[in-house]
Amino acid sequence: MSRSGLFLSFEGIDGSGKSTQAKMLADRVRTAGHDVVHTREPGGSPGAEEIRALVLQGDPDRWSAETEILLFTAARRDHLERTIQPALDAGKVVICDRFADSTRMYQGLSRGNLRAKVDALHDLMIGVEPDLTLLIDMDPETGLSRAKARNTVEERFEDFGASLQEAMRSGFLALATEYADRFRVIDGARDAETVAGDVWAAVSPHMP
Ligand code: ADP
Ligand code: TYD
Repeated sequence: MSRSGLFLSFEGIDGSGKSTQAKMLADRVRTAGHDVVHTREPGGSPGAEEIRALVLQGDPDRWSAETEILLFTAARRDHLERTIQPALDAGKVVICDRFADSTRMYQGLSRGNLRAKVDALHDLMIGVEPDLTLLIDMDPETGLSRAKARNTVEERFEDFGASLQEAMRSGFLALATEYADRFRVIDGARDAETVAGDVWAAVSPHMP
């Protein structure tokens, strides 16, 4: 894969402030004079947005974890082909709210250990990691109360409850150690401007 652009992802539990930080970073990078593509998963291309509705709405037991691995990876492949790769080829900065690390956590850990299956399908069909991943870390109780306050229909995973969010938090921190070269852990339990300052300190040395 060509890498003339810069590929940044945000990860973390629901309600940790990823979307807020992704938007603030996109504004900052644009102000610095770069072309930015601000996108999200699941979604980020018309086909992947259709899959988003399938996976985020309805009963928590609507899909098995294995079926979810296929659906999230299908959405990611479309997003990569149609949105992310063309932007990177054009030298743009891609800021993505969640990417494959979310599948490693939510599908890989939530209902038994399916991490090897997630990684195998990722290697086969995606094969790309971000240049830098910002993990917005926060305690699940705060994150879940922030997420629930939004009151949307996309609550399949939020409905799994606090124990899943706790497993996700420690799983993300372990992933940050596993991929220490590209992960930066940022304390999300502070005001948004302070968090954004740390995000910029992590990103700015990588700007093209
Ligand atoms: P995520 O994308 O990780 O689910 P959001 O950025 O949507 O998180 O934030 C969840 C909620 O918390 C939103 O209502 C948002 O306005 C609020 N929020 C975001 N960052 C902060 C912060 N640093 N302090 C307090 N509230 C925040
Ligand atoms: P998102 O819209 O980022 O929700 P939030 O803003 O609450 O963090 O993501 C929606 C849900 O999708 C979230 O609970 C995590 C889940 N998800 C997966 O389970 N696997 C994945 O691969 C991705 C990208 C998201």
